[in-house]
Amino acid sequence: MMDIAVIVLAAGKGTRMKSSLPKALHRAAGRSLLGHVLHAARALEPREAVVVVGPDMEAVSREAQRVFPDARRAVQVERLGTGHAVSMARDALRDFSGTVLVLYGDVPLITAESLRQLAGLAGAGMAVLGFETANPEGYGRLLQDAAGHVVKIREELDASPRERAIRLCNSGIIAIGAALLWSLLPKLRNANAKGEYYLTDLVELAAAAGAPCRLATCAEREVAGVNDRGQLAGIERTLQQAYRRRHMLNGATLVAPETVFFSADTAIGQDVVIEPNVVFGPGVEIGNGVEILAFSHIEGARVAAGARIGPYARLRPGADIGEGAHIGNFVEVKKAVIGRGVKANHLTYIGDARVGAKTNIGAGTITCNYDGHGKHLTDIGENVFVGSNTALVAPVSVGDGATIAAGSVITRDVPADALAMTRAALDLREGWARRYREMKAARKAARNNT
Ligand code: UD1
Ligand code: MG
Repeated sequence: MMDIAVIVLAAGKGTRMKSSLPKALHRAAGRSLLGHVLHAARALEPREAVVVVGPDMEAVSREAQRVFPDARRAVQVERLGTGHAVSMARDALRDFSGTVLVLYGDVPLITAESLRQLAGLAGAGMAVLGFETANPEGYGRLLQDAAGHVVKIREELDASPRERAIRLCNSGIIAIGAALLWSLLPKLRNANAKGEYYLTDLVELAAAAGAPCRLATCAEREVAGVNDRGQLAGIERTLQQAYRRRHMLNGATLVAPETVFFSADTAIGQDVVIEPNVVFGPGVEIGNGVEILAFSHIEGARVAAGARIGPYARLRPGADIGEGAHIGNFVEVKKAVIGRGVKANHLTYIGDARVGAKTNIGAGTITCNYDGHGKHLTDIGENVFVGSNTALVAPVSVGDGATIAAGSVITRDVPADALAMTRAALDLREGWARRYREMKAARKAARNNT
């Protein structure tokens, strides 16, 4: 195994995002940009990992901790540039002598494989990861010598018109031997358009120190950077295309792939059919043979084999749908365990609940889980028949095999096999409607004759 340390730079504010949220926390496919980078970093199994965050970025720090608990945090108090940011990791890497990989928190699609290759190419020297693009706008350009080494990285703001025409660009990702890195960083100067200490200036310093910078290249889509929301949408598009392809190759039918949106962690079984316009938020697991009908939104939910969801269903976090259950149109399920073979086919809210196997939930049933102060549980047994338009006022339980008459408001526990019914007495008046009709018609006729 290669001796690798990873530094992830995420202290930049991302001004061009025009956002109160730090750029690293903006999401693509349900995962933060930093989360994507850290997943790739973790897959490398580096000896050390350091995430550089800003002093006001507690949330970024927490996200790093959540995704990659072994990574250390370093704080860059003043944002003086990418080179300066890397020097913030020095203390954490004091005892490390292998190859250091520098990743940018805003270059999210990088793969562990490309990183491993780059580190191998650099060894104790230096290598940068570049890419060719038709639209180099905003990227640093790579200037090469005849031998193909990178002799300089020119930031766009500092580039001449001629240099701007270069299409070979800097991904921002570099690999460099630890000793070389720490010896060169203090030599960086900030005499450039932004007045920053550019990490990219290491290239010239390395060459002067007898370690000409090597070049590895990869596809543009793997190293696309995010500086504004247009580029964020580009990342989303790339990810969605990849996920759609992956899920189809794994045996899911997507009737209209371009209308289905996955999260990075969506897990889909075999022989799953997904109709058009379905959205998967984070934390979804779908079993084999599940059908998800059009216009459903699913997030933080598990759906067991053979279940049918939608059309127009919403599964929210904590929805756990049992084998063969049917969750139909305009049904919302939150934090509820729905048993095997349950049917809730129309216009229902089930939240903070358990529903036993084979129970039928009639149209318009609502678990009234919130009393304006706290949430309460509804526990419904197996083989229960819940009539249409029932309100279950939690906390409340319904025993196995009970029947609840349509239109009931259930405020007390219902024992097994009981009938529960709350209903105003029915007032039935024979012939009333006919008499009323005739009376109205007679009045109208009298009016017209005067
Ligand atoms: C950078 C590169 C550019 C490359 C591009 C690829 C430099 C000088 N330029 O430009 O050559 O083509 O990325 O996307 O490196 N950051 C800090 N502290 C700072 C400044 C930045 O942590 O003081 C972090 C940011 O959070 C970001 C990353 O470093 O994750 C890159 O910074 P950014 O300002 O986006 O640089 P670019 O202009 O994109
Ligand atoms: Mg950037």
